[in-house]
Amino acid sequence: MKNFARITGTGSYLPPKIVTNFDLEKTLDTSDEWITARTGIKERRIVTSESTCDLALEASLNALSMAEKKPEDIDLIILSTTTPDKIFPATATMLQNRLGASCPAFDLQAVCAGFVFAMSNAQQYIENGSAKNILVVGSETMSKIVDWTDRSTAILFADGAGAVVLSADKNTGIKHSKLYSDGNYLSSLHVNNNRINELGTIEMEGNEVFKIAVNKLSEVAEETLTDCNMTSENIDWMVPHQANIRIINAIAKRIKLPLDKVILTLDKHGNTSAASIPLALDVGVRDGRIKKGDTLLFEGIGGGFSWGSILTEF
Ligand code: UT7
Repeated sequence: MKNFARITGTGSYLPPKIVTNFDLEKTLDTSDEWITARTGIKERRIVTSESTCDLALEASLNALSMAEKKPEDIDLIILSTTTPDKIFPATATMLQNRLGASCPAFDLQAVCAGFVFAMSNAQQYIENGSAKNILVVGSETMSKIVDWTDRSTAILFADGAGAVVLSADKNTGIKHSKLYSDGNYLSSLHVNNNRINELGTIEMEGNEVFKIAVNKLSEVAEETLTDCNMTSENIDWMVPHQANIRIINAIAKRIKLPLDKVILTLDKHGNTSAASIPLALDVGVRDGRIKKGDTLLFEGIGGGFSWGSILTEF
């Protein structure tokens, strides 16, 4: 009998330092009014000395605790990040050591679609029987690759981590996943380093990314619903990548999903790339909106471009 990959625990962690739109007004030619109206973001968290692994550790411990699992119960760690602490070893390997786990661990890079890609990968290991419990983490310190003089990106990106424990379940769990990549779009959203030992900063054609995000994410949501023989009425909660409230509104409208069925954390978290979906999921679970048995739709798109969706019963 098939095993499903079911979420048994969620966790998240935000660094304590809050940077508001008013703080950004002091260093950039921008305003709280512009940022709020154009993006929906009011404030974001930015690391001071914390590493990507530090954030991942706290989120993972919270997820393990909810799942009532110990590090030794975990068969695999997949950590999605655009901002690893080192070129090598993988941040996942450092997390494995700090957790006291002994399982294989690897990083996965699909920028803001990273969590969806990591979940889909983890799903395969559980469904084919090679793992029973997998820790899937999205952790980012995007502030390290932001050009803090570029008002079109500095207002968007932020730091944080989210994690889930996926466990083998005979009855339900992830029902559908769909992934896409198209490297033709590299110049629309990329980091402008030329060599591997240069850090570089984010460069984005905002308008272009906006339109592509709405189109690709609406299409993948429609495709997911069709493949699952569902309509948006079957979705209890959409937990989208938190990039821009106007992108999320446009997608919800296209798939006819009322906005009160969307978990939004953008106002307080900003765009935390691979961490944004598990962060929003954890908020929705811990405040009681997301309940066992709910049908959830995750979707995200990221740099240059990768995108995809997960449909799961919680
Ligand atoms: O995580 C996945 C990837 N990222 C995204 O999904 C982001 C997608 N794109 C966006 O969210 C939006 O395109 C932005 C928020 C980046 C920009 O919003 P927009 O409505 O597309 O603005 P725009 O780029 O068309 O710029 C409109 C005006 C311009 O001025 P002019 O040329 O009309 O005089 C910009 O220079 O707003 C100006 N502007 C700003 N003004 C105040 C751009 N950034 C700012 C700013 N504050 N921070």
